Amino acid sequence: MACRTYKGIAPVLGENCFIDETSVIVGDVTIGDDSSIWPLVAARGDVNTITIGKRTNVQDGTVLHVTRRSDQNINGYALAIGDDVTIGHKCMLHGCTLGNRILVGMGAIIMDGAVVQDDVFIGAGTLVPPNKTLESGYLYVGNPAKQARPLKHHEKAFLKQSAINYVELKNDYRQESNN
Ligand SMILES: CC(C)(COP(=O)(O)OP(=O)(O)OC[C@H]1O[C@@H](n2cnc3c(N)ncnc32)[C@H](O)[C@@H]1OP(=O)(O)O)[C@@H](O)C(=O)NCCC(=O)NCCS
Repeated sequence: MACRTYKGIAPVLGENCFIDETSVIVGDVTIGDDSSIWPLVAARGDVNTITIGKRTNVQDGTVLHVTRRSDQNINGYALAIGDDVTIGHKCMLHGCTLGNRILVGMGAIIMDGAVVQDDVFIGAGTLVPPNKTLESGYLYVGNPAKQARPLKHHEKAFLKQSAINYVELKNDYRQESNN
């Protein structure tokens, strides 16, 4: 069972999602229509909430987690991911907020309180430090993440195309497994 309850709260899935059976989705996690969760993803909505939008893909080995509320930090850090987002293999997204049409390159790390605006490309292996905002329309790379250059027209188009590609791919997988 990929989806499990925590304190009686179960993950909520939209229409036509694909959840690989080797992934672990726990607690207060909401996943929008046509999104996909690939092998060995861990999404743990225990001490705060995880929200994933529509047509978003979370690829193999990625970890999604959150930070608890405390006296010093009354809201803690929830994790919110928008629509048409591609999260590459083996990323770590912790207590951050992502808008729409974003590509998170393989192995990237995005930390608590960071905000990624719409239409951003994050290069493989990038580290986005706590509370940093990545501005719409740019490529970011490096540790710590630096603005590399504005996105080219074809790169902006690819942000949406990548999400479409993954919707088609998960439809194949759903047919294969009768998911
Ligand atoms: C960053 C990226 C988009 C390439 O951008 P680009 O502008 O075409 O970069 P180039 O290949 O022309 O390289 C330009 C410089 O950036 C460096 N570079 C490339 N990718 C980098 C990365 N992820 N982090 C840091 N530096 C990077 C190159 O080594 C090169 O350095 P140099 O000028 O000192 O030689 C690409 O390498 C990348 O990281 N894509 C993410 C792919 C991915 O993870 N997809 C999800 C999986 S499904």
